[in-house]
Amino acid sequence: MTGRARSPFTKAALLGVGLMLSAVGCASNAPQDTFKPKGPQAFQIFHLAVPVFIIAGVVLVLVMGLAVGIAVKFRASKDEHPDEFPAQVHGNFKAEITWTIIPLLILVGVAIPTVFTVFDLAKKPPADALTVEVYGQQWWWEYRYNFDVDNDGKVDQIITANDLVVPAGRPIALRIKSRDVIHSWWAPALNGKKDAVPGRVHPLSIEAPDPGEYIGQCTEFCGLSHAEMRIKVVAMKPAEFQAWAENQIQPFQAPTEAGAAAGFSTFASQCTSCHRITGMTDPTDSSKTFVYPKVVNQVSGEVPNLTKFMTRTMFAGGKFNLRLPTTECKALGETWASTKDGIAKCLNREALEAWLRNPPAEKAMHPGEVPSPESRGMPNFHLTEDQIDDLVAFLITLQ
Ligand code: CUA
Repeated sequence: MTGRARSPFTKAALLGVGLMLSAVGCASNAPQDTFKPKGPQAFQIFHLAVPVFIIAGVVLVLVMGLAVGIAVKFRASKDEHPDEFPAQVHGNFKAEITWTIIPLLILVGVAIPTVFTVFDLAKKPPADALTVEVYGQQWWWEYRYNFDVDNDGKVDQIITANDLVVPAGRPIALRIKSRDVIHSWWAPALNGKKDAVPGRVHPLSIEAPDPGEYIGQCTEFCGLSHAEMRIKVVAMKPAEFQAWAENQIQPFQAPTEAGAAAGFSTFASQCTSCHRITGMTDPTDSSKTFVYPKVVNQVSGEVPNLTKFMTRTMFAGGKFNLRLPTTECKALGETWASTKDGIAKCLNREALEAWLRNPPAEKAMHPGEVPSPESRGMPNFHLTEDQIDDLVAFLITLQ
């Protein structure tokens, strides 16, 4: 082989082995690891996938070993005449039965637990499950909750985005839908993937065992910013979840402080042809509910509802963190809490301002330099720096 160019087959094999080794070896901080299950559904998949991988691995080693061994053992020797054929064999009943029966048994052995797992994962969620409507859109996820938050006998609605907030230890019944193209919802530590298909409702059960964050992302190619359509399941202790839900349905309060009030006016004039804030009042008369203009220029018809925006941890479809890292926040002598001061200081202001300044520069919304009718997401509104400062001051009040 020395001095000869490697065949395309050899190159492909080497590349494959290299990719496999790098995939296995390099990821130390990898929250999206299907081999690190946390929720019961993910464990079910894990307990099926591992034995199947082992069986497939044993078959691979045996078959490849036999193939290589036979090729070496029966290779042509130098003193053989090149035209001489080895003895031709035809019809060996025992061999044919053996190589039919063994794979059949292996496949049946793999199929039985697979079918049971598939049916088990598709079981209806228990009656005490919390239902959340999930909407995939280019390129972010919306979550809607409809339940009686404050026990007054009436169903309350919570609309949020990016962070799926759930109570830990409680079954969650997701109803996954799409408002434009096909997406796929996947938080590997909790369950397998489920496609979001326009016109369909796909159920998916998850359960976060402990408080904490479970990371995922859209896993069906859905256009330019598909890779920036992130998922974060934020699991809270049940009492904290209840407090979160109660805060979400608190009525809107118009800001009184000058900068925030100016930002509120800018928001009403510039942002409300797309964005909504539940219960928002008219900036010119706080006794009146604001009348929203028609949603314009949106394929999906919806953009993130910004009610209680500051209770989220991410924005722009999860591309940016809304909060500074805890250590940076601590260095400022603050913690992110439901106080205006903590939020104002620990806000990832730089990223949020950059976003308001020129969204398509922060996240790809259209191919090429110039927006077109095919553009998605937030356009550049060419806001002034003062308007941006005021808008941020207003957004900080949404807590
Ligand atoms: Cu949504 Cu990929």
